[in-house]
Amino acid sequence: RLSSALGSLGWSVFLREEIDSTNAEALRLLQCPTSLPFIVVAESQTAGRGRRGRRWASPPVRNLYCSFALRVEAGGRHLSGMSLAVGLAVVDTLRSLGVPGVGLKWPNDVYVDGKKVAGILLELTGDPADQCHVVIGIGINVNMTFSVDEIDQPWTSLRSVLGALVDRNELLLRLAMSLSGYLERHISEGFSALRAEWEAVNVWQGLMCRLSAGSQEVLGRVLGVDDHGALRLDVDGCIYVFSGGELSLRLD
Ligand code: BTN
Repeated sequence: RLSSALGSLGWSVFLREEIDSTNAEALRLLQCPTSLPFIVVAESQTAGRGRRGRRWASPPVRNLYCSFALRVEAGGRHLSGMSLAVGLAVVDTLRSLGVPGVGLKWPNDVYVDGKKVAGILLELTGDPADQCHVVIGIGINVNMTFSVDEIDQPWTSLRSVLGALVDRNELLLRLAMSLSGYLERHISEGFSALRAEWEAVNVWQGLMCRLSAGSQEVLGRVLGVDDHGALRLDVDGCIYVFSGGELSLRLD
């Protein structure tokens, strides 16, 4: 039923019991003739990938681990801001299930009341200047409630927030619908059309934060994002713009 519902939205589905990483599997599938776009979903991951080379704890506890693969137009102009657009789709999906207080931390961590509930990792294959594919990996803590040693930051799950088990089929379906809508808008109008919506759910809008890239650090007030999804910081009265996957932001 899930496959046919997703199929009617245009997505083929590959279900896996246990896999190293749904992103890795999607990248492998892209090497073979496969009908696009497609989704890889797994019950658990043995080497779930997070941003900045970190791991994403992925035990078989009825969470959602999935990757959406699609072709992006030559020139790669749609890539800037895409991961922020994906963040908006996750926020929209969680809100539609009645999750209160959902927000985003730049570039695309999904938070509920100061605790991380979902993460997003985009990976590219091919030459962005030519034809390429993007794999949009999304991990959502759905029904995980017990403590997991591997996770070194405050986290929560939909079940903890809602006080009820969440149906993952329903969640994936809503996510695919919302993602299709946001990607369509992002691709046709550009991230600038989503910028105000992004800033409205930015959990650190107006707050003093430290942005670090390796050993370099800068302290500034978060002004929001620009038309390409780059972070705008007020550093001692000057406006600086930052982008790139290796940056990390924390409250001062
Ligand atoms: C982050 O560090 O916040 C990003 C986490 C992304 C995790 C998801 S789970 C499904 C997909 N497969 C992976 O290996 N990673 C992403």
